[in-house]
Amino acid sequence: MLSNLGSVPSDEILTLMQMHRQDPRRDKIDQTVGVYRNDLGQTPVMQAVKAAEYKIWQDQTSKSYTGLLGAPEFLEVMQALVLGPEVPPCTAAAVPGGSGACRQAFELIRQATPGARVYVSDPTWANHTTMLAHTGLARETYRFRDPATGGLNFDGMMHDLGTARAGDVVLLHGCCHNPTGISLTRTQWRALADRMSENGLVGMIDLAYLGFGDGLEEDAWGTRHLAETLDECLIAVSCSKNFGLYRERAGALLVTARNPALLAHTREVLAYLNRQAYSFPPDHGARIVTSILKDPAMREVWTQELHGIRNSIAALRLQLCNAFAEKTGTRRFDYIREHKGMFSCLGATSEQVRTLRAKHAIYMVTDSRLNFAGLSQQNVERIVDAVTHVGI
Ligand code: LMR
Repeated sequence: MLSNLGSVPSDEILTLMQMHRQDPRRDKIDQTVGVYRNDLGQTPVMQAVKAAEYKIWQDQTSKSYTGLLGAPEFLEVMQALVLGPEVPPCTAAAVPGGSGACRQAFELIRQATPGARVYVSDPTWANHTTMLAHTGLARETYRFRDPATGGLNFDGMMHDLGTARAGDVVLLHGCCHNPTGISLTRTQWRALADRMSENGLVGMIDLAYLGFGDGLEEDAWGTRHLAETLDECLIAVSCSKNFGLYRERAGALLVTARNPALLAHTREVLAYLNRQAYSFPPDHGARIVTSILKDPAMREVWTQELHGIRNSIAALRLQLCNAFAEKTGTRRFDYIREHKGMFSCLGATSEQVRTLRAKHAIYMVTDSRLNFAGLSQQNVERIVDAVTHVGI
C-alpha cells in the first residue's frame, strides 16, 4: 500500500525553517515561520498563560472529555472576544488552532455547497491554498496587493469579486493580512460588506492575529461588521499568536447567520465534523484562554503583554522604514510603516529571494514576506543592506 503513495506538495514555510536550522552561517536570519520572538530571539510563555496554567493545575479535578464542540465557556468567551458585546446569532466549535478552524470551515462549506468557489486574496497564506486543494474545493483569486504602492488594490479586489456567484465564499483576513500586512480601512470594509451582501456571498474570515494590529477592538472591527452585514459568516479564530499558545492548538470556528433557525443544524454538523476528524477537540489551551478572559486581573496582564508585542512590532516597523530611507535616500519603503501585524511583502522576485538566502543567509518565503518575528533592533541594518544589495 505505502508504495502507492504519491507525492504531496511541500510546505515552503516549514521547508525553509528546516534549511535555516541546518545553515551553519552564524549571521543567518530566520524570516520563515510566524512565531513571535522578542528582542532576545525568544518566544516566552506569557505571564497570563503561566498564571492560568497554575490556576488550572490547582483547580482541575478531571481530564475527562469535554464535548464534541469543546467547553461551552470557551466558546462563549471566544464569541465575546471576536464579536463584541452585541454577539449576532452564532454557533461555534472548538478546533485545533487556526489551521484546524480553516480546515473545518472548508469541510463545512464542502458539506453545504460542494460546488462553491472560495475566493482567496493574491497572495494569501500558503496553507489556505493547499488546504483548499486538499479538500477539493474550487479556488479563485482576487487581486489584493498593489505592486506599485505596496498597499491595497481595492478597485482590483472589488472588480475580481464581481465575478463571484451567489453562494461563493470570500476568504478574508480579519486583520494583519498574512503575508502582506495590508489592512482595509473601515470605509473599504463597509463597501466590501455591502457588495458581498448584495451578491449573496458568504464571508469567511481568518482571524489569526487579533490584537497584533491596532488593538483588540480595532482589529475585530472588520470581522464584526461583516458578521452584522452578511447573511452568513464563518470565522476561523486562532489563539496561537495572541496568547502565544502555538503548540497547544487552541482555536475556534464561529458561524454567524442572520437566520438563527439555521444555527441549530449547523451546530450538529460542526459536532459531526469534529467527531469525524479528531473526535473531541483539545482542551488545555482553550481552558487557559477561558481562564484568562474570565478573570479580570489575568485578562489585564494578558492585554498589557499583547500591547507590548504590538508596540515592539510597530517600533521595528518604524526603525526599518527609517533605515531604508537612510540607505536608499527615498521613502519607497514607507508602506511597511502602514502595514499591520507580523508581516509585510517586499514585492521581490523569487530570484531576489533566492539570492537573499544564498548570499546573505536570510531565509524568506518566496512571496518575499518580511517577518517581524525574525527582525530585531540588532539585525535591521543587515536586512536593509541585503535587501538593497539584491536590488529590491
Ligand atoms: C505563518 O504563516 O508563518 C504562520 O501562520 C505559521 C504557519 O503555520 O504557517
